[in-house]
Amino acid sequence: MHSAIPYGGRVSPEAGASPLHRFLIGCHAEIQKDNSGAVASYIPELKKSDPNHFGISLATIDGHIYEVGDCNVLFTIQSISKAFVFALALELLGAETVEAVIGVEPSGDSFNSIRLRPDNRPHNPMVNSGAITCSGLIHRTKGKNAFDYIRAALGRFAGRDLDVDESVFASERDTGDRNRAIAYLLRNYGVVKGEVDAVLDIYFRQCAVLVTARDLAIMAATLANNGVNPVTGEEVMKPYTVARTLSIMTSSGMYDYAGEWVYRIGMPAKSGVGGGIVAALPAQLGLGTFSPLLDSHGNSVRGLKICEALSTHFGLHMLNRTGDVRSSIIADYDIGGITSRRSRKPRDQQILEEHHDGVRVIERP
Ligand code: DON
Repeated sequence: MHSAIPYGGRVSPEAGASPLHRFLIGCHAEIQKDNSGAVASYIPELKKSDPNHFGISLATIDGHIYEVGDCNVLFTIQSISKAFVFALALELLGAETVEAVIGVEPSGDSFNSIRLRPDNRPHNPMVNSGAITCSGLIHRTKGKNAFDYIRAALGRFAGRDLDVDESVFASERDTGDRNRAIAYLLRNYGVVKGEVDAVLDIYFRQCAVLVTARDLAIMAATLANNGVNPVTGEEVMKPYTVARTLSIMTSSGMYDYAGEWVYRIGMPAKSGVGGGIVAALPAQLGLGTFSPLLDSHGNSVRGLKICEALSTHFGLHMLNRTGDVRSSIIADYDIGGITSRRSRKPRDQQILEEHHDGVRVIERP
């Protein structure tokens, strides 16, 4: 499962060479010690997740990747798919059709709540009811090709073809009565149409798509980059779609923790019970984290911690835009090991060699 995954992008080459990378390494070591939370167990197959896994990947919008830990380990995307499938539904069917059946208000409820709005629509596309409705919309248009259509789109966000974990899919299909109840309720109100099992099959499969922390970082960076994948250069979604998706991620991506998240971290984000979190800072960067130990909201404990640490340290809160974060993140290094054609007096050269770590270079693109 490790590192056989073909990627483009430029992975930060010298381990620990930049302050950003050193910061990630330091945080990873510290946060790894936190063993609080629990792996998801309501989908039986997820109980097998390794609680020690912890990966952090950060992709800038010009395709640089900084990462530490388990960034090539595959895990199921789960609810993170909801954000991207919502984007796909918007692009495929148009805002009017999608908004006719799914609201855009935070629910304040947990992700699997069966409670709908007073008009019997789901509160938003990030809770299960809204996401099942989205899968149903795509099913209505694409029929039996709906899942392949979704998988291909997720792959364009990640920049590579993505597989499905068939055991996790089967495990959720065989035990997912709560989602089945939600889907029947939605069909009762005409929000979901057609075969409930066919729609749920798509939803469970999209949740079982396998990704890595690096995939998530690139997917998030694609959102941050106005819909253009910064590694492949492909326009995956239109800017209009991306702005709407990021809006919903901001208000509802972290479920009943969404208010706290936007207050403390301030980036559009989405989590999944597989242990992943994506966070996108528009025009700057995408973050993908993976650690399967979850808190009571279903959010990764270590993922939350690293996102908060990064946001605080580098001033990434989207409402705290005082500087160009990108310039201080993309090329941020000391001058050790850097060669120059300039000839210097031996004494000057010696000073540079002795004090290279006291000099910080921040390159602007
Ligand atoms: O429908 C479910 O319950 C799962 N397939 C996805 C839930 C999920 O990831 C919620 N995330 N925090």
